[in-house]
Formats: sequence, C-alpha cells, structure tokens
Amino acid sequence: MTLQDRPPFAILNGEIVPFDQAKVSIMAPGLTFAVLAFEGLRGYWNAEDEQLYVFRVAEHMDRLAFSNAVIEIDEPQPQGVLADQMLALMRKCCFREDVYIRMQTYIDDWGDMTASGPVGWSIVARQRGRVAAFAEGRHFGVSSWRRNADDASPPRIKASANYLNSRLAGLEAKRSGYDAAVLLNRDGSVSEGPGGCLFVMRDGTLITPPVTAGILESVTRRTLIELIRDAGIPLEIRDVGRTELYLAEEAFYCGTGQEMVPILSFDRKPVGKGEPGATTRDLQRLYDAVVRGRNARYRHWLTPVY
Ligand SMILES: Cc1ncc(COP(=O)(O)O)c(C=O)c1O
Repeated sequence: MTLQDRPPFAILNGEIVPFDQAKVSIMAPGLTFAVLAFEGLRGYWNAEDEQLYVFRVAEHMDRLAFSNAVIEIDEPQPQGVLADQMLALMRKCCFREDVYIRMQTYIDDWGDMTASGPVGWSIVARQRGRVAAFAEGRHFGVSSWRRNADDASPPRIKASANYLNSRLAGLEAKRSGYDAAVLLNRDGSVSEGPGGCLFVMRDGTLITPPVTAGILESVTRRTLIELIRDAGIPLEIRDVGRTELYLAEEAFYCGTGQEMVPILSFDRKPVGKGEPGATTRDLQRLYDAVVRGRNARYRHWLTPVY
C-alpha cells in the first residue's frame, strides 16, 4: 500500500485522528500476542442514490462481540456506538466510492498474554473496488497445512492469530503456482480458504461445509445461504470431501473482501468446463444488486452513510 492510498483519517479509541497519528504501543499484547479481534466490512457506492451503503453492519458488530467474548477482550463501547463511529469516519473521509472498513479491538499498552486491558480500538476505511477475480475466477490448490481446530485456535471467530494459519497456506499456494489455497481440517474434510468460504455444486445442488468444519462464521456465506434458499436453488450444508472438489460442476469462494470469486480449478483439475458456471454468474449478479441497494427485498441489510 503506497502512502497515497492511505486514508486521511482513522478512529483511534473513539477519536477521529489523522491516519498517521493512529499508533499503538510496540509492546501492546494486541501486537506481541495477537490478542486482537477484528471485522472487515464493505461499503458500496450507489451513484443513482448518491449513497454509500454499508453491508450487514449488525451482523458484523455481533460477530465482533462474539470474537471478543471468546478471547476475553471487554467490549470497549456498546455496539451501536462503534457502528456510529465507523459511519462518522466515512463521512469525515467524504467517500463516494466502494470502500473496505476494518474495525479492530485489542489489548493495548504493555502486558502479558492474559492481560485483560486496557482495551484499545481502531477503525480504518479505504477505497477498495471489486477484485478482478470476481470476473475472472481463480485457481485453487489444496494446502498441506491443516486448518487450525476449534479446540486450538478457533477459526469460528475473526481473530488475527488465526491468520498465521491462513498465511502459511496462502504462501504455499503461491509458491506452488496457485492463486489461493483450500484448507482441510483435522478430519480431512474441506474447511475454507485463507480468507473466504467455499461452495461447490454437484448435480445441481450447492454444497457448503458447516460452521463446525473449521470455518469462520462468515457473513457473506450466511448471506448467500439466504439468497440461494430464497432463489429456490437446492442447497446442502454438510461436510465436503476433498474428492468432491474434483467432481464439482461449479465452485466459488466468498467473503466480504472477495465477494464471490468463481473457482476455475482445484489442484489443476478443471471445475466443470474450467470457467465460471451459470449459477455462479447468476448469484454474482444477484449479490451485486443486493449489496448496492438495487434489490428492495434485501434493502434492510444496508446502512446508509449519508
Ligand atoms: C478465514 C476467513 N473465512 C471466511 C471469511 C469470510 O467472512 P465474511 O463473509 O464475514 O467476510 C473471511 C473474511 O472475510 C476469512 O478471513
């Protein structure tokens, strides 16, 4: 990220400050022991409405509270206050484009790995458009790294510490010539990718691993489950075996940042014809309409900034 790409302001412990002044101690347990929970949200600019819509704020705030509870970080502020601060930051930055927002809570100052305070929090938002992979699709490879387990470093929550596992898988995938990794869990079933969840299609039925498979409780996955059910597309939430990746007619990866990325191959074996499938494309169009406020049925998922 170049200096020019950095946003002008950030929120640090409730105050709007110039981005470069948003600093924490080098001995903060949030840094030294990764005692940090976070959320990644997206804001979508709708030119017709002259409005920036933030997607599923309540669900992200609930998950942040859940992550904090598991790693015992006290909520620094009530959820509504944090959400208002995020919206105020975006108004201050005058965004009129798609943005990505990161909100994080951590143990600040100086302490050991069980320190319970002081709790710090920060929010940063920056311009971020749609990833090229949304249109192009990407190639995935099964990692030799296993997903961290719920009884070790629970992937169900969005905690920075979990991303070491994601990083190792992502680095290996790149070295092996793939765009991204698929992680299997300890049982050998498919869990998720380093930063997103997976859906595969077999015989016209979409299948996604359950939250007990070692995945983050993803907001996008949950959104897609609702959209898929509402659209009447057959859906199963069940364990997915590695070989089912090779038998899939269609597959996609999903998450707030990536939105929906068609998967073109697993381990260099083409998914279907090796190009984005028709149902994947239909769902991408539906998802785009929903997040941008062009589908009245799901408008309640959007929070306007202005
Ligand atoms: C490991 C992991 N799984 C899944 C997801 C998708 O979660 P969400 O849809 O809430 O962004 C993410 C983040 O975006 C992630 O980092």
